[in-house]
Amino acid sequence: MSGGFVAIGEPVPRIDGRAKVTGQARYAAEIAAEGLVHGVVVNAAIARGRIVAVHDEQARAVRGVLDVLWHGHRSEAPQLAHYFGTGEDFSTVPVKPLVSDRVHYAGQPVALVLAESWEAARHAAGLVRIEYDAQAHATDLPRHHAQGRAPKELDEDTAPPKPRGDADETFAVSPVKIDAEFHQAAEHHNPMELHASTVVFEAGGALTVHDKNQGGHGTRRRLAKVFGLPESQLTLLNTFVGGAFGSGLRPQYNLLLAIVGALHLRRAVRVVLTRQQMFTFGHRPEIWQRVRLGAERDGTLNALIHEAVGETSRVDDYTEMVTRWSRTLYRSKSLRGDYRVLPLDLPTPLDMRAPGAASGLFPLEVAMDELAQALGMDPLALRLANYAERAPSGDKPYSSKKLRECYTMAAERFGWSRRNPQPRSMREGHELVGWGMASGQWIAEQEEAQVRVVWHADGHVDVETAASDIGTGTATVLAQVAASALGVRMEDVRVHIADTRLPQAPTEGGSSHVASVGSAVDAACEKLCKKAWQLARAMAASPLADSKFAEVEFVGGQLRRRSPEGGGLPVQEVLAASGADRLEAHFHLQPDEDEQGRYERAVHSAVFCEVRVDDAMGTVRVTRVVSAVACGRIINELTARSQVLGGIVWGIGQALHEGTLIDQALGRFMTVDLANYHVPVNADIHALEVIFVPEDDRIVSRLGAKGVGEIGGLGVAAAISNAISHATGRRIRTLPMTPDKVM
Ligand code: MOS
Repeated sequence: MSGGFVAIGEPVPRIDGRAKVTGQARYAAEIAAEGLVHGVVVNAAIARGRIVAVHDEQARAVRGVLDVLWHGHRSEAPQLAHYFGTGEDFSTVPVKPLVSDRVHYAGQPVALVLAESWEAARHAAGLVRIEYDAQAHATDLPRHHAQGRAPKELDEDTAPPKPRGDADETFAVSPVKIDAEFHQAAEHHNPMELHASTVVFEAGGALTVHDKNQGGHGTRRRLAKVFGLPESQLTLLNTFVGGAFGSGLRPQYNLLLAIVGALHLRRAVRVVLTRQQMFTFGHRPEIWQRVRLGAERDGTLNALIHEAVGETSRVDDYTEMVTRWSRTLYRSKSLRGDYRVLPLDLPTPLDMRAPGAASGLFPLEVAMDELAQALGMDPLALRLANYAERAPSGDKPYSSKKLRECYTMAAERFGWSRRNPQPRSMREGHELVGWGMASGQWIAEQEEAQVRVVWHADGHVDVETAASDIGTGTATVLAQVAASALGVRMEDVRVHIADTRLPQAPTEGGSSHVASVGSAVDAACEKLCKKAWQLARAMAASPLADSKFAEVEFVGGQLRRRSPEGGGLPVQEVLAASGADRLEAHFHLQPDEDEQGRYERAVHSAVFCEVRVDDAMGTVRVTRVVSAVACGRIINELTARSQVLGGIVWGIGQALHEGTLIDQALGRFMTVDLANYHVPVNADIHALEVIFVPEDDRIVSRLGAKGVGEIGGLGVAAAISNAISHATGRRIRTLPMTPDKVM
């Protein structure tokens, strides 16, 4: 960055960093509103059954309590008729509170206390006494996985791969076989910011909604449907989001209840979940899997069979891309996948960072390591021997795929060639040292997006789009794209996002926001450049009078010929001379699905890691991780690296720490706070190294970017499991790999 001018790829610090670390950034729970009412939620204590009585007299007697809402005390507000009238309908929202006496899972929201202060509401919520008629529940996936059934609906991505050849027969006759079962515990999103909504009831009945979510327009569409309100009456703002990881893809119950409260009281209402309540909605489902690999003695894969049974709720089928990776990562002569769900008395699961891939890649990449061991082959050599140059199913070319370079560069940096394949061959004091590796793959998508860019005569630029920045650095990247395209300084670009009054943007998810919204900003800026160039050509005695657009560039505040001798003009002079006070361009990006569909579009990674396992205690330290990722053109080297580093930390959490334990007798998640639900802390994190493999993909996006959020976490848990196996000789197929399993 020189003099504030930036290029694509440079490590530009966050434009909102100062606001965030100084507390000036206001999150959904911090928005001031006149006459604010506080809502506190009461959650069900049983896993399945009915509510037979609610005793709310004591709660109502608390000073400051305005009302207690539950299924029998519905609001008479006319705007709520649709919400209550449509009853239990979970097609739009995962949980719809207060519409019925039925309890579908422990922790389901069953009452809302509304009070003048949070303290009064919280105290009163503790006084609401509920009588239940409890029914027998089932929450035990490992015990009942054989009862899984086919999901009601699957799409191309979530469906198991189309069978190729006779995988079972081929497996049976393969000279070398691996057949292993895997289990992964449920995991919960734990963003620093709790889910929160502040809903302002405007004069005339419109609602201004400040909510933590990953997409204002998407959330608004769902709210309009659930409440039967016109979208024009709902303004959604998610100005700052303190992490979401998928938990903000759909409206959470705090938002529904805050709206119910606001419409009921005709006042502003805020509902904030507690950390414990963050464990009472969607989560990464617990999952059972079995992978069978059959190979020739030279390592050629003959058969790949991948079966999965994931948990879902009784009220909805949650599905994710679990078995897809067995179709796209390796060549195999034959292939079969099976994906089932098991309905349990638990909340409906929800997408959580790299949904499906984080689950499905683990068994595949551990089984590949087991196969390498059985063959006496290097795990990296086995992967290279089965490398897919074209996508194996459908035989499509990849839009770009530098996985081979990921393997080579990360292996080189890690020193993989010095690995002694013998388990337990490295020891330092009381610790066994092991090295493991794995591959990662995630989709590269582009979504429809609109932006408006305004270039003012005073030199500053407004970028406007309802994009979300869930903490990933989107706002910074959008500013950087505009600054670089227009040749203006970073500080002259103002980014306006996170407001449904701005041009429509997709939900931030699937690591596709930069490829989508970033590309739209780039395209709008190109339109502005053309307009500015046309004005420049028309100026009296213009040095650019006979230029073509392709011959000019916008750099350092100048519009100039690319040739070294060619003259130029300061853009501000052009605007001033034309008398225009602003140039404006709108761009509506619609992905070319036919063209993109001709290619398999994916991002890739290779992860190498070192673990040290205490031989007596079974504790694991991940002392070194080298991850090489190929995810298209990197727009901002700093924020992209942070994404991958964060992903690696997530992978370490998935491998060693994270897992929500269920008390099967109560049918309830038990480890529902950060004392009991373990995430990695600084002391768990040692040397992490990220390599960006140069890649540029103009099929996925005009910027050349693919997506950099989710890939960072993938392959990490498998690499750690493989390293533990190398260190100890013990193969661990269940996550998290806590000391009791490692011992
Ligand atoms: Mo991500 S699970 O697409 O927010």
